[in-house]
Amino acid sequence: MLQRVQLCVNGVDRTIHADGGTSLLAVLRDMLKLTGTRFGCGANQCGACNVLVDGRAVASCDLSIGAVDGKRITTIEGLGTPEKPHPLQIAFEAEQAMQCGYCVSGILISAAALLERNPSPSAEEVRNALDRNLCRCGAHNRMVRAVLRAVASRQS
Ligand code: FES
Ligand code: FES
Repeated sequence: MLQRVQLCVNGVDRTIHADGGTSLLAVLRDMLKLTGTRFGCGANQCGACNVLVDGRAVASCDLSIGAVDGKRITTIEGLGTPEKPHPLQIAFEAEQAMQCGYCVSGILISAAALLERNPSPSAEEVRNALDRNLCRCGAHNRMVRAVLRAVASRQS
């Protein structure tokens, strides 16, 4: 049965009519055409689909739309824009912290959530925060450097 769900996605109020069991990822990608959020494993194991839900990084493949009624969602499209990129996006580009790029939107979301709760993390804290985000290209070390670069840029 279709359910009416209210969301605030990247600052815009949205009304969604969908089966309550539909994943948030499917709503974002297929209904709202926000395709920057990736489908990886579909089983809450890789972090490619991470989005912020009320500021917390969560796997959108494993969250039903019915469970996020009234929530504030931020996807990679809402983190920054080409004109005004997020400091993490600037740092990832500067460090060339990616290869194929498939995992990066989920990793940026996890990193953004970390910086919200801890604006000055250590390298170990960054590693721990990104621990559940898989990167098949093995670019993790560059990503950790990029997050630390973003931290430094915000302090200078
Ligand atoms: S696609 Fe959601 S965690 Fe892998
Ligand atoms: S950059 Fe290719 S999977 Fe991470």
